[in-house]
Amino acid sequence: MEFKYIIYEKNEAIATITLNRPEALNAFSEEVIEEVLQAVEDAKNDESIRVAVLTGAGEKAFSAGADIKAMKGMNALKARELSLMGEKLCCTLENMEKPVIAAMNGYALGGGLEVAMSCDLRIASENARMGQTEINIGLIPGWGGTQRLTRLVGVGKAKEMVFTGRIIDAKTAEQVGIVNVVVPADKFKEAVKQFAAELATKAPVAIKVAKVLINKGAEIGLDAALALEREGFGVVASTEDLQEGVAAFTEKRKPTFKGH
Ligand code: CAA
Repeated sequence: MEFKYIIYEKNEAIATITLNRPEALNAFSEEVIEEVLQAVEDAKNDESIRVAVLTGAGEKAFSAGADIKAMKGMNALKARELSLMGEKLCCTLENMEKPVIAAMNGYALGGGLEVAMSCDLRIASENARMGQTEINIGLIPGWGGTQRLTRLVGVGKAKEMVFTGRIIDAKTAEQVGIVNVVVPADKFKEAVKQFAAELATKAPVAIKVAKVLINKGAEIGLDAALALEREGFGVVASTEDLQEGVAAFTEKRKPTFKGH
C-alpha cells in the first residue's frame, strides 16, 4: 500500500499507523483521514494483526487537530462534511474489533485529542500536551469531543476543557482519566511496544467481545448491558482459546491463543 501522509508498518502482530505531516504538527487534512481509514481497514482484515497503534511523526505532536488552514472561508455544509469525515474516522477506530492504542508522543489538540479518545487505550509521553482548543478559534469540537471527553472525565471537567480551550500536561490528563499511563520520553517507544505486545498475547475473541461490551454497554441501561455481557460470555466460552487457557493454567505454562 502506498501512502503519502501516513507511514503504515506491520511488525509481527502489531500494525502501526504514524501520522506523517510533522511540518503541520500532523494536522488531519481530508487526505490524512482517507489514508488512516485505508490503513485501519487493512489492519482490521489482516488476520495476522492483533493490535493497532496510532501515533504521530516527529517529537512535537501526536496531532494538532483538524487542518485549520483548510477552514478558511468554510461554510456550514463544508463544516458538516468535515465533521462527518472525522466522525467516520473516530467511529471506525472505536468499532474496529481489535484493540487500538493511541501513542501520544506530543500535542493532541482538537481533533487530535478526539481521535485519540476514540482509541481504546492512550499511552502518553511525559511531554504530551492535550486540549479541546477549538474555542480559541471560535469553534467547538466536531469529531465527538463534547461526547467522548464527557464520558471519560465527567461533565464538569469536560465543560472546563471545552469552554476554556486550556492545554493540560500529560500527568494532569492521567489524573483526570484521559490517558491510561504516562511514560518518560526516553522510554516512550519501548513502553508502547511492550503494551501492544502484551495485548497481542491475549485471546483475540475475548478482547473483541469485551471491547463491544464496554463500548455498547456504556450507552444502554445496566440490565440490558448485563444481558449483553451474559451472551458475550457464552460466545467467548465457546472458543478453543478458552480450552487452551484452562489447559495452560492447569499445566502451569503460558497459553498460546489462536483467535478461534
Ligand atoms: N492545522 C494546520 N496547521 C497547523 C495546525 C492545525 N491544526 N497546528 C499547527 N499547524 C502548523 C502551523 O501553522 C505551523 O505551520 P507554518 O510553520 O507553516 O506556519 C506548524 O504547524 C507549526 O506550528 P506552530 O508554529 O504554531 O508551533 P508552536 O510550537 O508555536 O505551537 C501549537 C504549537 C500550540 C500546537 C499551535 O500550533 C496550535 O495552537 N495549533 C492549533 C491547535 C488547535 O487549535 N487545534 C484544533 C483545530 S480545530 C479542530 O480540530 C476541530 C475539530 O474538532 C475537528
